[in-house]
Amino acid sequence: MPAATMTASPSLRASQKRSASLEQRIADDPASFRILTGDRPTGALHIGHYFGTLHNRVRLQDSGVQVFVLIADYQAITDRLASPDLPRDVRGMVADYLAIGIDPSRAVIFAHSLVPELNQLLLPFLSLVSMAEIGRNPTVKDEMAAAGSEAMSGLMFTYPVHQAADILFCHANLVPVGKDQLPHVEITRTIARRFNDRYSPAQPYFPEPEALLSAAPLLLGLDGTKMGKSRNNSVPLRASADQTAALVARAKTDSERSITYEPERRPEVANLLMIAGLCREQPPSDVAQRIDGGGAAALKAEVTDAINERFAAARARRAELESEPGYLRDVLLAGSVHARDIAAQTLDSVRRLMHGKY
Ligand code: TRP
Repeated sequence: MPAATMTASPSLRASQKRSASLEQRIADDPASFRILTGDRPTGALHIGHYFGTLHNRVRLQDSGVQVFVLIADYQAITDRLASPDLPRDVRGMVADYLAIGIDPSRAVIFAHSLVPELNQLLLPFLSLVSMAEIGRNPTVKDEMAAAGSEAMSGLMFTYPVHQAADILFCHANLVPVGKDQLPHVEITRTIARRFNDRYSPAQPYFPEPEALLSAAPLLLGLDGTKMGKSRNNSVPLRASADQTAALVARAKTDSERSITYEPERRPEVANLLMIAGLCREQPPSDVAQRIDGGGAAALKAEVTDAINERFAAARARRAELESEPGYLRDVLLAGSVHARDIAAQTLDSVRRLMHGKY
């Protein structure tokens, strides 16, 4: 079902409303916010990630919010389709981040496996939630349905709790997410609240982080199905202009010559118009009007140009970065050292609050 036709649940609407008022508070005092976001290193970041979240991270960073970006390599190994070359994917991800404007002198880029103290927080946190609560998490439930409880790993099962450690280790108070991740933020809030109630009642130790929902619409893949890194149905940020043209040429459209923006009736065409509109910072209906009677060929030409123009500078920067693997590695190691400092302090405080002084 196209996202545009889905009706928002009351809790989703409440989150959207909270996100709008959060934006105001961020504008008033950006430095009081610390965001933590992450990506699983399972392939090249694509334009769906860019408009869904990466763009927003850069905006928040530039407005003065503290930004922590996690490359979730311990989450990647919960996937059924493990990456054949994780180091390459991790370095590629750092290059993607820097190319689109994440600035390592302001933001902290780090990886799970380089911050042992973060992972150790999983242990005390696991004591604060029940198996049933974890089992109700929609991602865990879906995985359970897909893989079955026989095949699902313990790490996959505990993934939302691990994600709470990702967020709480650095006392992040804001988590920019898509709506699929809202239940994880909810578990994180529960864990923070229970920890505070049990071990630090006089003065809450952990913040209860808030989800900041992206205002961007959910893009579909070029084939009209869900866009995904491993589905080969999007345009990677790092694609060349020619590769972009070839990918867009394969996109699903319809046979009507007149191009109109009708998300319900023509979801694939509307999705392409949305992509061009986002690239050009124009409403998709304006893009449709320009193409008018040009049909699918003109639409695809416009989408290709829009993507190539929007990402030309980032792609050029990325090509330069690609030739400096040592620098990319240094950025990741330095960010991880910084994250480790913070995680070690948090783990120590957690230990003292839970166990007192030995
Ligand atoms: N689960 C997220 C995803 O699949 C990635 C992620 C890991 C994350 N840790 C996080 C996102 C913490 C937000 C906060 O995209």
